[in-house]
Amino acid sequence: MSVRYYEDSRTWVLDTVNSSYVIRADETGVLRHLFYGGRIEGCIPDHLRRDIDRGFSGNIYGYSDNRGYSPDTIPQEYSGHGAGDQRISSLIAETSSGIRSTDLRYQSYSITRGKYTLEGLPYVRECDDADTLIITLMDAAAGLTVELLYGVFYSSDVITRSVRITNVSEGPIILHKAASMCIDMSFGSWDLIHFHGRHCMERQPERINVPGGIFTVSSNRGMSSHHHNPFIVLCSNDSNEDSGDCYGMMLMYSGSHRIETEKDQTGSVRVVAGIDPEDFSWQLDSGSCFTCPETILTYSASGLGQMSRNLHRIIRENVIEPRYMTEKRPVLINSWEACYFDFDDAKIDGLARSASDLGIDMLVLDDGWFGARNNDRAGLGDWYVNTDKLQCGLDALAQSINRYGLKFGLWIEPEMVNEDSDLFRSHPDWAITEPGRKPVVARDQLVLDITREDVRDYIYDRICDILGSAHIEYIKWDMNRGLNNMYSSALPPHRQGEVSHRYVLGVYDLLSRIRAKFPDVLIEGCAGGGGRFDAGMLFYCPQIWCSDNTDPISRLIIQEGTSYGYPVSAMGSHVSASPNHQTGRSTPITTRAAVAMEGTFGYELDPAGLSREEREEIRREIRIYKRLYDLINYGDHYRLALSGSIEGTCWSAVSKDRKECLVTAVLTDVHGNQPVVHSRLKGLEGSASYRIEVLTPDSDPVCSSQDRNDMILSGSALMNAGLIFDMPLGDYPAIQILLTAAE
Ligand code: DGJ
Repeated sequence: MSVRYYEDSRTWVLDTVNSSYVIRADETGVLRHLFYGGRIEGCIPDHLRRDIDRGFSGNIYGYSDNRGYSPDTIPQEYSGHGAGDQRISSLIAETSSGIRSTDLRYQSYSITRGKYTLEGLPYVRECDDADTLIITLMDAAAGLTVELLYGVFYSSDVITRSVRITNVSEGPIILHKAASMCIDMSFGSWDLIHFHGRHCMERQPERINVPGGIFTVSSNRGMSSHHHNPFIVLCSNDSNEDSGDCYGMMLMYSGSHRIETEKDQTGSVRVVAGIDPEDFSWQLDSGSCFTCPETILTYSASGLGQMSRNLHRIIRENVIEPRYMTEKRPVLINSWEACYFDFDDAKIDGLARSASDLGIDMLVLDDGWFGARNNDRAGLGDWYVNTDKLQCGLDALAQSINRYGLKFGLWIEPEMVNEDSDLFRSHPDWAITEPGRKPVVARDQLVLDITREDVRDYIYDRICDILGSAHIEYIKWDMNRGLNNMYSSALPPHRQGEVSHRYVLGVYDLLSRIRAKFPDVLIEGCAGGGGRFDAGMLFYCPQIWCSDNTDPISRLIIQEGTSYGYPVSAMGSHVSASPNHQTGRSTPITTRAAVAMEGTFGYELDPAGLSREEREEIRREIRIYKRLYDLINYGDHYRLALSGSIEGTCWSAVSKDRKECLVTAVLTDVHGNQPVVHSRLKGLEGSASYRIEVLTPDSDPVCSSQDRNDMILSGSALMNAGLIFDMPLGDYPAIQILLTAAE
């Protein structure tokens, strides 16, 4: 068992291979967080406890002879509200008699083999060596029980948390805040890394010293958002890629969220994460229960790189459906940047013909195939083929694409409706609007009220009809606006605070029903690119379109930021045309491919416009990607540093057996009399000998790549002395080098 319990001190120790997490119920039943960090053998006494009177930090009733014993300074496992702990609360509940404070005390616990699951929410799936601890707390005056759920994934170095809140009182209780986790780090000097951005520039990492006061990362957009990803890293000030204490804390939720950090009067840092309380309230009727979304925690004593690899592993193996650990995903060509809304049968046929000639596996027909959809102002909701454009219909189209040896995939945006659509004209009340107020319109579309079962059923039936009507093997599930005017005509006024969360539950319900009915259809998530790139969506969709920005140079930072929490196999990434449609920047096709290979690889351009050399280059890229599929998708990811003042990005994928390594370097600026481009590699077998193969054609203007291909170097030489990259000349050059352990 990876959970140990010490009866005499009421202490639980959660062990993973490299970490321990220690919780204690103290003398008054306050649940204390004692420690989370490197592995501890045996039980720890509460030797780090000091009851110091801080002044203006009140005492638990009856304890005024020990003024140092205060809920306000105790490191808590799930903080209450308005009952002595004045720091960030985890739970704000209002009882039918008007009590608004929460004061939780220990009741009982259970330890079971296996991992708990959550009803209606995504969760980290069971694995061979997972155990569950449930600690039940009680607020007798409020009539609430709170079960803290812990999943312990021993070999993955991951602990999951969730919370179940039950109303055991006679009347209704209104939840105003129900966080998924709270953790207090009593000691240490911490930095915080968070991932902010905007449409077309998602997940930009920012590292700050945890400030005094409260710092919030949140989205109130009804989606996890382009703007603030539901994931933070807490790391020691001195940590870097390879050393230092690093904690990854990731919310498995796709809606409005909030992650708060507070550095308090004692220097202790609290993190509270969960649904954004700004647009949330939930009526809990007597006897009913509310389940909070899950959080994923991991600890690494060896820096940010290992922390990321822990998260990559758990997401790849236990969040994403297990079948995708063996099933290869297709190299696809997407019609969006090739045609936008302007296509017909003949154009799609041409795209399929050239794609098949290039070695591509699947053609995805993006937006514009349905209803009166000739631009983004009309047609959303009318999921019937537009026979003006596609006279043959979906079935015949899929068949003709299949005849080229390609699979067929289709774009949908099922959560949305244009006012100019037959669906809206017949069901205007299905769109989310507030009485007496004109709704916010974005991309000329409104949001369907999928909190309603009848609306969900309609969408489900339409998707089933489409998927049943033709041989469709993939769908891209898009979502192109944030949520506003949250109001559902199906709920009474006092339950309107539930709409935002119920919307997310509606998305999960639809996705799980579609997964159950069409398990062989691959779903790629998308929300205007990476607006809903989160572990919740990854439970249903093994890959998510990383960004609407396909410029490889912008993608470097977007994908690097994403890589802190999410694996390469989850990042939809394509080679697009040059100059790039979003930035106007021109880049070599080798660079575009090298960057797109840090993701689920594909193309987003019209091959008709390419030269013979470019088409040959695409064939080469696809061969490389397919040859290295396992290494790229399942290998260990390393963010590497380029020496000196070189402006660029470098990363590698190392196979589990350390016999193969793909290193990629991309320069974002080049200068006259350029310094040598060099990096020290990581994760190799020191004593192994590696054969060097430069994959990028003509990568060395001085000595040919052939010369380099003969070189054999030891893992220790590559890691300690490093490797020089002989970059091609020109703008934005890239190089890919494969190292293979020689027999
Ligand atoms: C936004 C997506 O991110 C794009 O890739 C494309 O599918 C468009 N929507 C279509 O409207």
